Formats: sequence, C-alpha cells, structure tokens
Amino acid sequence: MKENKQLHKHEGYCYLNGKILRIDKAHISPLDSGFMRGYCVTDFLRTYNNKVFMLNEHYNRLQNGAKLLNLKIPISKEKMLQIINIILKKNKQYVKGDFKIKILLSGGIGKTDLNIGKSPTLFIYASAIPTYSDKLYKNGAKLITYKYHRYLPEVKTSNYIEAIRQQKNIDKAGAIEVLYTGDKHVYECSTSNFFMFKDGKLINNAQGILEGITRLRVLQIAKMFFPIEERQIKIEELKEAEEAFITSTTKEIMPIVQIDNIKIGNGRVGLKTTKLMEEFKKSLNNKI
Ligand code: PDD
Repeated sequence: MKENKQLHKHEGYCYLNGKILRIDKAHISPLDSGFMRGYCVTDFLRTYNNKVFMLNEHYNRLQNGAKLLNLKIPISKEKMLQIINIILKKNKQYVKGDFKIKILLSGGIGKTDLNIGKSPTLFIYASAIPTYSDKLYKNGAKLITYKYHRYLPEVKTSNYIEAIRQQKNIDKAGAIEVLYTGDKHVYECSTSNFFMFKDGKLINNAQGILEGITRLRVLQIAKMFFPIEERQIKIEELKEAEEAFITSTTKEIMPIVQIDNIKIGNGRVGLKTTKLMEEFKKSLNNKI
C-alpha cells in the first residue's frame, strides 16, 4: 500500500546524547545495546499546527516503559519539550505541515553486550508525518489477522520485527495493517489499537496491548456519545462487528471495512465511526 511508505529523509537536525546536530553527523556506536541486543524503548509523537500532541501522556508512557527496562530518561519532560521545539524550528525548512517526532532510549554501551551501560543513549528526531489518502478514510481500509503477541506489550520497545516481517503480506493483501490475535482473542494491530462496535457499544481491549495515546483521546470523546465496554474481543466476534476502526498517532481514526475475508457491517464506513472521526478533529481545535 503506497500510503504506508514512511520515507526516511536524511536531512534536518536531531538530538543525540546532549547535543543538537545534523542527522548525517549523528552517530551511535555499533556496540550500543539498542543495536547489539535490541535493548531500546521508544515513543512516537506528532504535532498539530506546530504544537506537540499530548506530550504528558507520551512522556509518561516512555517513562513507564523505561522503568520496566531498568532505564531512566536522562532529561525532564520540560527539557524534552525544549529540545523538541528547537528541532521543530530547525527542521521547519525541510517539512511542510505536521511533524512526527521519534524518541529512542537504549541501554547504551554496557561492560558486556548483556549489560546496560552507565549512560543510556537518547535520540530525538522530527521529520514529516506520513499521510494517508482521503480514500482510505472515506471508503475504509482492510486488516489481515496474524497470530502474534508483542513482547512486553504495554511497552513501546523498538522491537517491530513482526510488523516489518508482515509488511509483504500486508501489501499483498492490499491491507493497511496486521491485526495481532491470540488463540481466542484479538490484541492490537502492528502499529495501532483496534476498536469495534457491536450492539451499539464501542468495544475495546485494554489488556496485553500498548495503550495508545490516540486511543486515550478517542475513549475520552467516545464516552460522551456511546456506551463503552473495555474487554477482550473474541476472534469470532469480528464477524458480528457493526463497525470497526483503528487508532494511532499517524492514522488518527482509520475506519476498517474488511478483516481477512470478513466484511465489517455493510462494508462501508459506519455513522458511529464517522461521528468519532469528526469529534476527534474538533477536539484538536480545543485541546492539544
Ligand atoms: N505506533 N499499538 C502499537 C503496537 C503501536 O506501535 C502504536 C503506535 C499504537 C498506537 O499508539 P498511539 O496512539 O500512541 O500512536 C498501538 C506508532 C504510530 C508507530 O510505531 O508507527
């Protein structure tokens, strides 16, 4: 799927271990535990009109993830915002529109490659946020299922091996993402959270997933309009979904009209999902 391409542009400025420098001058040792052993926690934020969206929530999620990996973010939230704003300003010349901001915190270089170093590696980078065609939001997208559960699912580690491995199958099926499932239940998508409407209720799983920040905002909005059930969704319930959608920093609310060979509802984007998409957009004008 063309829209899914997130091109890396090797231009602009980043933050690496205390310094703001050009991305092509930023270097990390191959001995870093993030590279050697994949020991790295990450977060992915965005801007709306030059303002960082829900920084508190993203910082807290990164901090909780870091704790679980016995790492500490070496800078405060205030300092992080300061750094992000400097990078945004410097990178404005390269980016039209909104930014995505990536933060990666690895274990640094330890005394062996199974130890954490004395100081972690902290990298912050901002570049253009990927966009998706209007058609996908108007007509809805497709998911394919795959049996997999992310390791430490509540943490956004940098382990996206399965997401990348599945990209071939996603493209082949003309899908937007993979929906990970267990033996009986649905978890989340490769880079999004999953929701469905059934019997007029919005059902969403809060267990064994990354608690998405977009998901948080959507739940805050949705509870003003619909009854909400936070529980695991059985795989067989997908057939009974009246509507479905996924949420993420990049995709916001993207309607889903097909999962494998299952048509969701009447195969068109539903009224409830449309309402949430409108209310989500409205919420961005009131509160970032
Ligand atoms: N993905 N679940 C997983 C596994 C994710 O990687 C993400 C985010 C989400 C949604 O979280 P949020 O609403 O905070 O973006 C759920 C980002 C966008 C990515 O890695 O590309």
